[in-house]
Amino acid sequence: MGLSSSKAENKKITVETIKAMKKSGELIASLTAYDYLMAKILDGCGIDLILIGDSAGNVIAGYDTTLPVTMEEMLYHTRAVRNGVTNALVIIDMPFLSYQCGVNDAVRNAGLFLKSGAEGIKLEGGRQVADIAERMVGFGIPVMGHLGLTPQSINLFGDYKVRGKMNKERKRMLKDAKILEEAGMFSIVLEKIPEALAKEITESISIPTIGIGAGLYCDGQILVTHDMIGLNEDFNPKFVRKYVNVAEEMRKAFNGYIKDVKNSSFPSKDESYLSSR
Ligand code: KIV
Repeated sequence: MGLSSSKAENKKITVETIKAMKKSGELIASLTAYDYLMAKILDGCGIDLILIGDSAGNVIAGYDTTLPVTMEEMLYHTRAVRNGVTNALVIIDMPFLSYQCGVNDAVRNAGLFLKSGAEGIKLEGGRQVADIAERMVGFGIPVMGHLGLTPQSINLFGDYKVRGKMNKERKRMLKDAKILEEAGMFSIVLEKIPEALAKEITESISIPTIGIGAGLYCDGQILVTHDMIGLNEDFNPKFVRKYVNVAEEMRKAFNGYIKDVKNSSFPSKDESYLSSR
């Protein structure tokens, strides 16, 4: 499938571009970023959508869950990523407790992200976030949904296993996807659900689905960048394809540097300022 005309004509990707990609059949490629340099490289490669995920809590801060992540941390990541991006659509995850305590609070916090450079926000959950999303969209804030394994609900789930295997949960998720579409969301992330359910959801709504551990039949895919480049060596679920082993490359570089410093082969004459000029 070639580039859709909407994308080829206008390099800056907007929420409308993402929605149009579902209609044209062009698949959406999305990855996470939390800092300037990573965002710049991703944007230069032509990634469609950069998610500043609250997975920052896991891969940047080393928290066990995403629950401790704060507004201040996510605002910092937003400003950093914004500085590195020209074309990709930049969406930010609203952290736990930044949208659950009332619509006014949620709209204000989402607005702070837009003021810091995000172009839309993502909320976890189904029907329970529909009224919040509707209000945000009414005020010009694009909203992305997130169904299936929603990590902010880990204490309710008890584990990170595949969601939506049982008929009751499957039916509820199908209904939730419809409700989120009706609330005005521009797309929905589907995390760790059976491929057949992701396909059913994707075919039942007009907004794009972006899958992570949800099989092939979504309108796009997303992975956590630190996982797919092999920087996070502790997380190896089967849905993560490792494209490179960055942790190993870093170890080679760091060990080489330590050795060179210890045996005085760094810095060389070429790496030193030899005259006073
Ligand atoms: O926080 C995150 O990175 C996410 C993706 C896994 C979709 O929500």
